[in-house]
Amino acid sequence: MLLKRTIIRLNLLLAFSCSLSYSACKNEKRLPDRVTFTEHVAPILYANCTICHRPNGAAHFSLVTYTEAKNYAPAIAYVVGQHIMPPWPADPHYTEFVGQRIMTDRDIKILEKWAQDGAEEGPKDKLPNLPAYPVGSTIGTPDMRIPVQPYFLKAYSGDRFLLVKVPFELPRDTFASLIEFVPGNKNVVHHVNGDMIKYEFDKKKDVFAGARAVDMVEDTTIIHAFEKLGLPNDDGSYPVLQKSVVNYLPGAFGQQYPDGIGGYFLPRKGAFLLNDLHYGFTSKEDVWDSSYINIFFSKTPPSRPMQEFQLGTLGVSPVEPDLIIQPNTIKHVSSHFTVPFDISIVTVNPHMHLIGKSFKAYAVNPNGDTIRLISIPRWDFNWQYFYTFKKMVKIPKGSTITAEGIYDNTSNNPNNPFNPPQLVRDRNGSMKSTDEMFQFIISYLPYQPGDENISLDRKQ
Ligand code: HEC
Repeated sequence: MLLKRTIIRLNLLLAFSCSLSYSACKNEKRLPDRVTFTEHVAPILYANCTICHRPNGAAHFSLVTYTEAKNYAPAIAYVVGQHIMPPWPADPHYTEFVGQRIMTDRDIKILEKWAQDGAEEGPKDKLPNLPAYPVGSTIGTPDMRIPVQPYFLKAYSGDRFLLVKVPFELPRDTFASLIEFVPGNKNVVHHVNGDMIKYEFDKKKDVFAGARAVDMVEDTTIIHAFEKLGLPNDDGSYPVLQKSVVNYLPGAFGQQYPDGIGGYFLPRKGAFLLNDLHYGFTSKEDVWDSSYINIFFSKTPPSRPMQEFQLGTLGVSPVEPDLIIQPNTIKHVSSHFTVPFDISIVTVNPHMHLIGKSFKAYAVNPNGDTIRLISIPRWDFNWQYFYTFKKMVKIPKGSTITAEGIYDNTSNNPNNPFNPPQLVRDRNGSMKSTDEMFQFIISYLPYQPGDENISLDRKQ
């Protein structure tokens, strides 16, 4: 452990000296004398940015062509220099994750130099090909696509939190490796947390009956909402609900695991319950959203289905002290949970709302060693990924997981929704972004020997 830490320090030191002087580091090549778009900038943008900044990408403007990029040259230099883009709030020096979006210092300097030197185009024949991106999916061609009932949003409407049912009927019970939510209108779909309802074939005649969506602000009780959606079995009992099978946040990518790990049993009759479909503000035009759900089938049964628990708000361990944040204060909170058996952590998802400032989580095992999980030095409400470890992280029985959060409820916080600041608190897990939450969501498998060596990187 000590050795590992020393190596990490050394790496940090090296990275630092590279950024101070190019000759100090053999690996760091000199910057080109003349930086051009086609020779130097396009390869960097295509590797780090165009996955979102392209027509139909997650961002609303494209950085694919010379003209598009040139218009944004100073902004590009600024956002990469400030580590705002590509969006990756987790500190890569603390822990590393699959698909992390981190740029090298050299690439950042090239983009900065390009803007300073006047954003030249360079020889047209040097322009590399844009990578091929899948259409209508973040990872490939799905086996099945189920539309979510289109939803109409009036101009200038505020936050909407909907509970949405997406029913399905299949020829037979089957398995899936991934269920992916694809937003129709990326400007308004903010995030989605979805579960799956699994009907026993004989207990539900018509999975399509009932309302498709209810507004959570109008329907105050969840039971009332469930009845409106027609979720109960025909005899009034409730079917099995599997939590968190389909989640969406801007910039999130579908994650398939090695065969047998994660994945889902799909019943012949079922429904996805988008338990929280959050539409953000609309501007001056009315809009329709037509989102859909992609299913990637699998031949392998999910022998090790993913399990989940969360610390903090509505979770297995309370937020301490209570999440009541007085105006003009900075508040530190934490939550601690001791795991009752060995687990292998697959993903972690820290969750706070607008006035979150930083987040950190780690475990301390019974020998007193610290196992790092995640550190987010600068909280960003807009980028709340489900971070997947490169290899599963074993947390031995008896270890205590700690999540720590800091909230800034002063007017120095540019994300504070209230001016002047007001009392902010959690209200029974209210999802309104102006109320707060403190959650650390962990998906895991019961530990099996060798888990530490299984790569979770996308299927090779
Ligand atoms: C995971 C998706 C994603 C990636 C990767 C990404 N961006 Fe962005 N970027 C966004 C989104 C979303 C916005 C917010 C504006 C919008 O909705 O289009 C944004 C905004 C920006 C802005 C405007 C900032 C502002 O203040 O308006 C710039 C400039 C930018 N990105 C440049 C880049 C560059 C350069 C890269 C690569 C080094 C990059 N982005 C990578 C999604 C992404």
